[in-house]
Amino acid sequence: MNTHICPASHAGFLSTSLRRLIQKPERILAGLVTPGQTVADIGCGPGFFTLSMVKLVGKRGTVIAADLQPAMLERLKVRAVKQDSHNTIRYHLCAADSVGITEKTDFILAFYMVHEVPDPGAFFRETRGIMKPGGRMLYVEPKFHVTRRRFQTMVGHAEAAGWRIDGSPKISVSRAVLLY
Ligand SMILES: C[S@@+](CC[C@H](N)C(=O)[O-])C[C@H]1O[C@@H](n2cnc3c(N)ncnc32)[C@H](O)[C@@H]1O
Repeated sequence: MNTHICPASHAGFLSTSLRRLIQKPERILAGLVTPGQTVADIGCGPGFFTLSMVKLVGKRGTVIAADLQPAMLERLKVRAVKQDSHNTIRYHLCAADSVGITEKTDFILAFYMVHEVPDPGAFFRETRGIMKPGGRMLYVEPKFHVTRRRFQTMVGHAEAAGWRIDGSPKISVSRAVLLY
């Protein structure tokens, strides 16, 4: 299992305007994140999706921004303060082998991160445990890093943890599955 972690020094590449042209966070999250929810962006990096999640949950919602690297959370914090999104975000530092979130969530985003996790089975079991009834997780991997076969293996780990498949949204240059 490749557990290379995307370094914080590469964070700029995750929030480019080119990426925004091909992956529009509000469009990807439409209908999944709604006002007042408690949602988690696990492996949030510098917050390409987090800041859109803040807009979608509104003032009464909460976004848990979780990452393994303090430097990623710091980068997100700087951007969130600039956009006045700071109060809606709860910053959470994960351990490599445990997400560590205890709050129950309505929605979890795991975008381009599970392939960096040392034990995907444990990841899917832990996230299942913090999901509210009726909640969903959008699990996405980059096509150029994660083969179809590896993605299927990962989805198998999710199913073994009790997740069920609710479709495969089309997201450019990605493999994606919606889980419930
Ligand atoms: C390729 S980046 C993707 C960032 C963001 N989701 C995006 O799409 O822009 C992967 C992120 O996952 C984080 N990560 C890797 N392993 C992790 C773990 N075990 N727990 C939490 N975050 C992790 C990395 O620190 C990095 O910020």
